[in-house]
Amino acid sequence: MTKRVFSGIQPSGIPTLGNYFGALRSWKAMQDEYDCVYSVVDLHALTQRFDPDVLRSRTRYLYALLLAAGIDAKKSAVFVQSHVPQHCELTWILNCYTMFGELSRMTQFKDKSQKQPENINAGLFDYPVLMAADILLYDSDAVPVGQDQKQHVEIARDIAERFNSVYGGIFIIPQPMIPKIGGKVLSLLDPSRKMDKSDPLPGAYLSLADSPDEIMKKCKRAVTDSGAEVRFDPVGKPGVSNLIGIYALCTGKTTQDVEKEFEGKGYGVFKPAVGEAVNAVLDPIRRDVDVYLSDGSQLDALMREGALRAKAVAEKTLTRVRRAVGLAESAHV
Ligand code: TYM
Repeated sequence: MTKRVFSGIQPSGIPTLGNYFGALRSWKAMQDEYDCVYSVVDLHALTQRFDPDVLRSRTRYLYALLLAAGIDAKKSAVFVQSHVPQHCELTWILNCYTMFGELSRMTQFKDKSQKQPENINAGLFDYPVLMAADILLYDSDAVPVGQDQKQHVEIARDIAERFNSVYGGIFIIPQPMIPKIGGKVLSLLDPSRKMDKSDPLPGAYLSLADSPDEIMKKCKRAVTDSGAEVRFDPVGKPGVSNLIGIYALCTGKTTQDVEKEFEGKGYGVFKPAVGEAVNAVLDPIRRDVDVYLSDGSQLDALMREGALRAKAVAEKTLTRVRRAVGLAESAHV
């Protein structure tokens, strides 16, 4: 049987080059080999405060962006999370098989609690359980994500194993799939942190919606070091090494090839070359996203079709789960 893949992306900002190389590029590549289910996870985004109109339009934008990045809605089931209410029901059930202690240890919960001390809501705490529900509902074998989501996939495995140990083989145990290069693209202004679409400093990330000029400016202003050598040394030269990684990802070259190409040339030549390489990757995405957004009714139809496909699978899993835990089933509508 073809293996199933699930992954999701939050409409909490415009995706960055980190999202692209950490996740979206693998999502696209996996479509030929796997049965893929991809979601714009708008319920997860409610753990932060957004203007409702901004969240709604960003969800549509993100859906169009997935298509522009090469996700084929005919091959893969592509849907908006809140269109498939089974995610919420399974979350509640799984909550009862998840321990307070294990959620307290999640590094993302600790980070976000620091970032939004005025809004440490229960959703933020429960975020990994909704994510486990996303994954487990689709009997997913593999979950392509960036490095920062590894812990969340691991807790989904723990919850599934705990549930299976009580009720038998209800869930498939999913594997995280993290790209070797691209699994953690770093901030351009602080290479000790990941490139993050919610970063308050726009200069820290390369957004997939940035204009060619903006991309070039941000690359030129990226933090490097007082040296001049284009050498891959993530510990000693984290800023330059991050740019070498980005250039390598954009051009398909190895980091050694990049070092050779820029030997003796200095940052003044290297940084604009990075900007050009990024723009070459983003040009077709920027163009196609506008095409998808310009046909609103086609976008609606694709969202509906994706949600129906996802729902059919999700409901089957949920029926299995309801039966297993002993929920009354006869009048389910
Ligand atoms: P999100 O929306 O923050 O990011 C989407 C994907 O992009 C990856 N990513 C990165 N990869 C490399 N370098 C970076 N700087 C970088 N920043 C982000 C993330 O690892 C992710 O794969 N909780 C998830 C969304 C989610 C999900 C799921 C993922 C909800 N349910 C089920 C997988 C399975 C999130 O916030 O991703």
